[in-house]
Amino acid sequence: EKVLLAYSGGLDTSCILKWLLDKGYEVICFMADVGQEEDFEVARAKALKIGASDVIIKDLKEDFVKNYIWPSIRMGLIYEERYLLGTSLARPCISVGLVEVAKAKGARYIAHGATGKGNDQVRFELSAYALYPEVKIIAPWRIEEFYRRFQGRSDLLNYAKENGIPVSATPKAPWSMDANIMHISYESGILEDPLTIAPDNLYQMTVNPTTFKPPHRLNIYFEKGLPTLVEDLQTRAKYSNPLAIIEHLNKLGSLFSIGRIDIVENRFVGLKSRGVYEAPGGTILFTAHQDLEIFSLDREVYRLKTFLREKMSDYVYNGFWFSPEAKFTRKCLEISQETVSGKVTVELITGSVRAIGREASNSLYNQELVSMDVHGNYSPSDASGFISINSLRLREHCRVYGSNF
Ligand code: ARG
Ligand code: SIN
Repeated sequence: EKVLLAYSGGLDTSCILKWLLDKGYEVICFMADVGQEEDFEVARAKALKIGASDVIIKDLKEDFVKNYIWPSIRMGLIYEERYLLGTSLARPCISVGLVEVAKAKGARYIAHGATGKGNDQVRFELSAYALYPEVKIIAPWRIEEFYRRFQGRSDLLNYAKENGIPVSATPKAPWSMDANIMHISYESGILEDPLTIAPDNLYQMTVNPTTFKPPHRLNIYFEKGLPTLVEDLQTRAKYSNPLAIIEHLNKLGSLFSIGRIDIVENRFVGLKSRGVYEAPGGTILFTAHQDLEIFSLDREVYRLKTFLREKMSDYVYNGFWFSPEAKFTRKCLEISQETVSGKVTVELITGSVRAIGREASNSLYNQELVSMDVHGNYSPSDASGFISINSLRLREHCRVYGSNF
């Protein structure tokens, strides 16, 4: 039987590869390039040496940016008020690649190295079942024989040694990482104690904010809620290709240490976990988009949108990117964005980004109407009645219950 293994090149999935081979499977390895720092050719050679019958490497960077990150920015997705979902968004993207290759190679099995306590197992598997209902999943970290045999890292290292699996010479960091073009996440190991402060050398994507740099300004343009152009007001350089935009914003955001968070979040399986994240470019885009949106959208539409955004963020976090509820919610959120076109000027200062100017072709902002200097189409005397009727309830409340709140 053929198995397609989601392979990372690391110790865990290398041992899983060997273990599957020993179980008698033919194993094809799949690697998705979603922008992580990785020598794919080294990983390919390693998988082949261990015994994979083939290694398929797909460059999914552009797909990931255009079809997952961009829509997420447009929908304003954010989990539990802080996490921009960098890993959660990559999972359905990688799953599409896995399913395509599995079908093309005639593999009925897909295997992965996600643990039994996490979100990723759920995301990979729900996505795979939604796209390839007949698929069979092998999740070794949930198979008793496997997890009894490999109880700690030293068991994996011994197994690697016994089986001639090359082990990276650089000592492993005391936490686990997941990296892509949108973010890097750090979890487990020494970070499991929520009080332990992440060391400065943990951060791979953003520099440590030691000195205060002069602010840096950018214009970010959106069309129907999607980023279309970034103009660097310092260098005058322009970026319009989605990959180029996110890469430039990551680079700049990195210099200003933008988009770091250190949180405890609720996993779908029901436990809380501590995670440290950095998403410089995504944070800049999120901030700019939100500003333009509140600037241009009708107030009640915006409020409905925040409700749907919360729902959608949970769907994405919980692994339901490919689901009828996500499809419906995505469409609703997209409709809200038809008028979200224009530009936002943002300023990067060490540690943060804020909007400092905005312009939109269809904004409901009416300078004359709001101005302190002209009346416009507004009679201030009407406000007396507005307040009077609104205060009716409050006056009645005081009459009956008194003024203690
Ligand atoms: N807690 C984050 C999430 O669930 C990050 C998960 C990181 N995954 C990993 N395999 N290291 O989206
Ligand atoms: C894992 O459990 O494999 C990583 C963390 C997660 O998926 O939440």
